[in-house]
Amino acid sequence: MNTLKITVFFIFFSHINTLFSQNNNIIPTPIEQRINNGYLHIKNNPEIITDYKFNSAATLFKDAIKKLELGADNKTKNVIKFSLNKKLGIEEYILSISSDQITVEASTEAGAIFGFQSLNQLMNLNLKNGVIKLQNQIIKDSPRFKYRGMHLDVGRHMYPVEFIKKYIDGLAMLKFNNFHWHLTEDQGWRIEIEKYPELNNVGSFRDSTLVGHYTDKPWQFEKTRYGGFYTKKEINEVVRYAEKRGINVIPEIEMPGHSQAAVSSYPEFGCTGEQVGVAPLWGVFKEIYCSKNETFDFLEDIIDEVIELFPGKYIHIGGDEAPKTNWKACGNCQNVINREKLKDEHELQSYFITRMEKYINGKGKQIIGWDEILEGGLAPNATVMSWRGVTGGIEAAKMNQEVIMTPNATCYFDHYQAKNTSNEPLAIGGYTPIEEIYNYEPIPDELDDSLHKYIIGAQGNVWTEYMKTSKQVEYMVFPRILALSEVVWTKNKPTFENFEKKVKDFYPLLDKMEINYSKHLERLEE
Ligand code: ACM
Ligand code: ZN
Repeated sequence: MNTLKITVFFIFFSHINTLFSQNNNIIPTPIEQRINNGYLHIKNNPEIITDYKFNSAATLFKDAIKKLELGADNKTKNVIKFSLNKKLGIEEYILSISSDQITVEASTEAGAIFGFQSLNQLMNLNLKNGVIKLQNQIIKDSPRFKYRGMHLDVGRHMYPVEFIKKYIDGLAMLKFNNFHWHLTEDQGWRIEIEKYPELNNVGSFRDSTLVGHYTDKPWQFEKTRYGGFYTKKEINEVVRYAEKRGINVIPEIEMPGHSQAAVSSYPEFGCTGEQVGVAPLWGVFKEIYCSKNETFDFLEDIIDEVIELFPGKYIHIGGDEAPKTNWKACGNCQNVINREKLKDEHELQSYFITRMEKYINGKGKQIIGWDEILEGGLAPNATVMSWRGVTGGIEAAKMNQEVIMTPNATCYFDHYQAKNTSNEPLAIGGYTPIEEIYNYEPIPDELDDSLHKYIIGAQGNVWTEYMKTSKQVEYMVFPRILALSEVVWTKNKPTFENFEKKVKDFYPLLDKMEINYSKHLERLEE
């Protein structure tokens, strides 16, 4: 191309850019988006007309408009309607923008909220000088999977309630509907339990924390007391906040493993009775709950308090990474094996989980467990989170039980997102670039068609050993979460190249939300 041609080409494209500076990109991609001629200009607060069922969505809209600080032109007046359309499915919505009004149709509150979320992206991306200019269009949309989750570990590091809400805002914007809150760990117990105050007095704090990476030997520790917990009032506030955004909060109370903080608070519920400290180090620890009856009384009391706080149907009971060392040497645990005629400690783990499941089912709730709960026999009503690859998920689906896919190779957001880690903040390891998440397919090829329905969705996990601050969590999660949102929501996935462009166009929205997203997409291009 000669210089003249390049110049003409450039002018032509700049012109197109100014002519069509509209950004109609929505993430995750709607099934159908029909762009029409004409525009709607919003210059002040539109009048809201809403079905009473959609008050949450209408409130979200009102708050969003307030934040956008539109220029006060009182002449034009727009109308937004949130209307009931009983023909639409659960979570489905239709968003219609015409030159004089916006309509969000849905049959459920969730659908109306997702319609609002699409609209909110368009409003934020098309605001200039105090005026929102929206292109006329009709969007018809509904999700591919009914479970769309993001997890956050607050055991290794914890974050202020304000950040938990911001995290929920991020999930809501991308139409996730489950926030899996990992509340108990070896390194800290993070939920207030009134009946057992030592869980918070002792178990919520550790005396020291590993410095640097686990593989850096000799280990060095920062000897500062670290910890805290979320009070019931705070948890309540988070649950309500999420609910208003169409998000269910799933609490995880780990058992029988990852329980060293609890055992350090109440050594009598471990096998040895010995006093251990809250773990200062990352990893898998042998200080797990003992299988004697007293432990079940303790755990049932805890579950009673947890159930009061979380209205959703699921309680996550963990179940992963529980070394059987102490159980093998414990008279109480061996007695249970004999009494219940169990073959070994794996069956004891299954007994443990099944017994807790029965209790939780009795309270009208369902359990979720990591895929280790398959070992020694799967609890009959459990939903399995397949994290050690997809084999556990396939096995559970074949048993006609529900599965949430979270394979660590693709769904772990604690992995590095750049090949060259020298410029990256310290992470646990691995390499999971955004493209890999984008191309992830939750239904395994080898799964028979008739069993697809058991894969209810997928989830991204955020383990926080190496995420001391909320800014670091944001860096690891964004923009990879945008890719996962496409995986779990859309039935109309663009090519990765198109998605990449959409992500870059989305940056201004992330900037507005003051999210510390990673720019590795640019770095890959260098
Ligand atoms: C896990 O990553 N231990 C579930
Ligand atoms: Zn024991």
